[in-house]
Parts: sequence; structure tokens; C-alpha cells
Amino acid sequence: MKTPKRSWAEPYKIKMVELVHMTSREEREKALVKAGYNTFLLHSKDVYIDLLTDSGTSAMSDRQWAGMMTGDEAYAGSENFYHLEAAIRKYYGYKHVVPTHQGRGAENIISKIMIKPGDIIPGNMYFTTTRLHQELAGGTFADIIIDEAHDSLSEHPFKGNADIGKLDKLVKEHGAKKIAYVSLATSVNMAGGQPVSMQNLRELRAYTLKHKIKIIHDMTRVAENAYFIKVREKGYQNKSVQEIVKEICSLTDGATMSAKKDALVNIGGFLALNDKRLYDEASNLVVVYEGLHTYGGLAGRDMEAMAIGISESVQDDHIRARIGQVEYLGHQLLAMGVPIVIPIGGHGIFIDAKRFLPHLKQTQFPAQTLAAELYLDSGVRTMERGIVSAGRNKETGEHYFPELELVRLTIPRRVYTQAHMDVVAESVNEVFLRRKKIKGLKMTFEPQYLRFFQAKFMPL
Ligand code: F0G
Repeated sequence: MKTPKRSWAEPYKIKMVELVHMTSREEREKALVKAGYNTFLLHSKDVYIDLLTDSGTSAMSDRQWAGMMTGDEAYAGSENFYHLEAAIRKYYGYKHVVPTHQGRGAENIISKIMIKPGDIIPGNMYFTTTRLHQELAGGTFADIIIDEAHDSLSEHPFKGNADIGKLDKLVKEHGAKKIAYVSLATSVNMAGGQPVSMQNLRELRAYTLKHKIKIIHDMTRVAENAYFIKVREKGYQNKSVQEIVKEICSLTDGATMSAKKDALVNIGGFLALNDKRLYDEASNLVVVYEGLHTYGGLAGRDMEAMAIGISESVQDDHIRARIGQVEYLGHQLLAMGVPIVIPIGGHGIFIDAKRFLPHLKQTQFPAQTLAAELYLDSGVRTMERGIVSAGRNKETGEHYFPELELVRLTIPRRVYTQAHMDVVAESVNEVFLRRKKIKGLKMTFEPQYLRFFQAKFMPL
């Protein structure tokens, strides 16, 4: 007999709601022109379902809100800092903690401490802010992710894996001393939220130990990665997400964290390090850029919410429902024939804009165009992750032309319902049906740093 179907469902119920503003097509047209066809520049009041990012957009639990009320707003040595430090030691296993206002604050500090001008920083695909801090410190990022990651159609179960052959080539070419560290992200954002396997991490650990190279872990979405290991990797089915998370961290030397994702807070991050000497340097430098080493740009209440959020984020029920919702949307789009990155990733659905709008050249910004069209259709806000995000090569001034030209439908944690996901799928389908009539964009304003945030466009 076939086992009857059991649906995923949320391990919580809703206690408070936020009313959202419904807009007409005319209102959206006006808003989009004003925003220069860049979804980052829309006012959120003009957005119906906000899938711009999963960063800082999660719903906190009643326990987290209660924790906010216990904020110890002392300048130094706040009790909440020690709660946060204890949570990081317990759930992630790192020894020393420097809080920062968010992920890029930690990236700035680690880059300044560990990168010398001329160094190479190999990583499993770049992330925008991470790479920029590496470059500002005088380093050069080198992509060592496996080739499958750049192919939206490859069904490799661990498209986030590092290619150790590519790392070895860099070491042979430049010498291990020139490698500042390996920048290893779990749930690789720009690849579509694709996980790294434990097997790959173990091999990377063995290689880096042999060559005395450290691994700095971008652990922004580590729990989502752990869930994929649990369901896809042999030997992990009976381990908890909590155990897998800790095992992942144990194979690295330190981490930068944007707690605005996995850890379920609206603001916060940290740098974690096992090496006491590096920690001493970091806890001194944080004073320059963020704040004293026991608050790092955060209020006591923010650190308390983060400590509680970390404990909630590694619960199996939570993460199963979180990824269950992302997969629910992804399967609907696949059934409609919409080209998306497969396997479905952890934090969102990534539409392949090259295949969605094959008649547009990459210099006509297909993903930017599609994000604008989706907003026009239904007030659903998404984000470009293609040529605009990739930016320009600082030596040649040319655009980087990434293989992946994606629109990210990022799902905030614990925020939207299944009916919201249905509305999103219907809107994507509507735009898909009239895709041949869609024209591209041209860029009319380009800022110097991280241009995707503030660039402006006009229809061709
Ligand atoms: N690393 C990864 C993998 C990220 O996704 C982000 C942020 C950061 C670092 C930087 O952290 O924003 O707290 O300073 N990603 C957001 C996003 C912005 O929408 O994907 P931050």
C-alpha cells in the first residue's frame, strides 16, 4: 500500500498581522518609473508580496520579542552579549565572538585582518559584499566552485561544492602563502541557494590543513545547508539539523554571519574565530568600525533576539517547513514550464532569465527586466542576480558577464502563506505567457560600488 501523503506545514501559528497595501497597475507603473526600474528603489508601501530578500525580513517569534524586553542597554559587557556568545558556542561551536551590525561588518574586519595586498582569496562563488571587502583590502577573489554551479540545468545535489582541483591549481601557481584563506559559503546564494556536502567540506579541510590555509565560513544560511545534507547525503538521515550545523562549523576556522537570514532577526551579525590571536585583533578593530567588542553596533535587545533566533533556527521542524514552502513555490513554477535553477535551493526560487527571455542580450539586462515586469504585473518584488549584480572588472572596466542571469524570488522566513505563494506563481505564469513581447532595459545611472542597489534604468 502506498503511504498516504503528509504535507509540510508551519510549526507555529499567527498571533499578529501586518496589513499590506494593495496597488493598481497604474500606481505600480508610476512607482516603477520613479524607481528607475530598479526594485531596490521602490518604496515598500508600494509592494504587495515582498520577495526582494530573505535578509532582515523574517518574522520573530514571541520568545524573541519577549527577549527584546530584556535588553541590557549597557555600553559595555551587556548580559545579552554573553547570552549571544553562549548560543554561538553551543550551536555553532566557535570559541570567540565579535558582534557586528550585520554580515558585511564582519566581512570588513576579517578582510582587513587576514588579507594583504596581492593575496588571493579562493571562494565557492562570490557574494557581492564579501568580494568587495576582499578587493578593498587589496586581495583578488578567485572562483573555485564546481563547474556545475554555473549551469542552471545541472541537477548535481551539492552545487555549492568547492572544486579542490581548482584550489590546488591556485596554490601551485601562487604558493600557499599568497592564499589569505578559503572563503567558503554554505548555501551558496549566487548559485541559487545551493548546498555544500559534508564530504566536500571534509576533503577541503584535509587539503587546507596540509597547506596551512584557514577556512573562513560564510555561515549566513548554514542551517538550510544542513537540512539538504540531512535529506541528500548518505549517513545523515538520522542526524538532527542541529548536529549537522555543528559538524559543518567544526570543519572551519572561523565564520562571518549575517544573522538577518538563518538566525531570524531583523538586524545583526557576528564574526566568530577559533584562533585567539586573530580574535584579539578583531576585537580591537571592531572598536574602529562598529562599536565596543561586546556590542559591535547592536543594541542589547538585538543581541538577545539573535541568541534566541539562533536556537530556533536549527530546529528540524522549523527548517523543514521553511524549505518546504520554497519547494512548494518551485514545484508550481516547474509545472508551468518556467525555467528555474534546479535543484530548488534553500532560500528562494531563482528564475533563469536567459531562458525566460532568450531574445534579450545580456547587456539588455534580462533579469533586471523580468524583475520589473513581475512587479508591474502583481506588485510582487523580486531581485536581479545577474550582470547588474556582478558589476565591472576593476582593471578593465568591462562588465563581468556571469553565466547565471537570474531573478531571485527570495522567501522571508515565517512571513507569507501558501496562498501568497499561489499568487506569486500565477503572476510569474502571466508574465511567462507574454514573454516574447517583453523588451529590455538600458542603464541610465551607474554608481561606483555595488551598482545593483542604486542603478537606474529605462525601457529600450
Ligand atoms: N553573505 C551572504 C551569503 C549573503 O547573502 C549576505 C547578504 C551577506 C554575506 C552580507 O550580509 O547583508 O548582513 O551585510 N545577503 C543579502 C541578500 C543582502 O539579499 O542576499 P549583510
